[in-house]
Amino acid sequence: MAKRFQLILPLFSTILLLAVTAESNSYSKTTPFQGYKPEKLTHLHFYFHDVISGDKPTAIRVTVPPVVNSSAVSSFGVVVIADIPLTEGPDRSSKEIGRAQGMYASTDMNTLSFTMVFNLVFTEGEFNGSTVSMYGRNPIFSKVREFPIIGGTGAFRLARGYAQADTYSISGLDAVVEYNVFVSH
Ligand SMILES: *[C@@H]1O[C@H](CO)[C@@H](O)[C@H](O)[C@H]1NC(C)=O
Ligand SMILES: *[C@@H]1O[C@H](CO)[C@@H](O)[C@H](O)[C@H]1NC(C)=O
Repeated sequence: MAKRFQLILPLFSTILLLAVTAESNSYSKTTPFQGYKPEKLTHLHFYFHDVISGDKPTAIRVTVPPVVNSSAVSSFGVVVIADIPLTEGPDRSSKEIGRAQGMYASTDMNTLSFTMVFNLVFTEGEFNGSTVSMYGRNPIFSKVREFPIIGGTGAFRLARGYAQADTYSISGLDAVVEYNVFVSH
């Protein structure tokens, strides 16, 4: 091990220097990377109206999976396709600033958790026409869930960042979720 380390030292001396303050444990190692400076950081704040019930749903279930005994979660396998209004305030009648278009799927056998795959499409103000792509794991009963921002278009080209989702209210199957999204681009 030590011998191998010496062999690669000249090649990777810069990386090894940076690794001095590395955090590590059995399955990960983090080294500081100082070369990246985002141009701007944009904080987006809005409410996400996930309406499954009633005659004007914004999200529809497209699969009814078979019940499998290997899962403690009865909805395991459900896929929901959604075009969800994003508004400035928590009230559905407050100004719409965009839509969350995509899907979420129940993908955890032990706890109710969804995999979220969404494009946040902005329709107001300076970000009208720009989109942000969000992908992540959503254990919906946790207070705050966090999803990576993995890209964007228009003003958000080369975006990266994260979104934090906090359920604001629930009525039956419908939920209003507060989002704080931090995007560097
Ligand atoms: C689940 O378990 C029950 C009881 O053991 C059994 O009757 C049933 O066939 C199982 N269902 C599936 C889908 O495996
Ligand atoms: C957003 O952009 C579209 C397409 O360019 C345009 O039709 C619409 O009026 C714009 N909306 C606002 C609120 O500026």
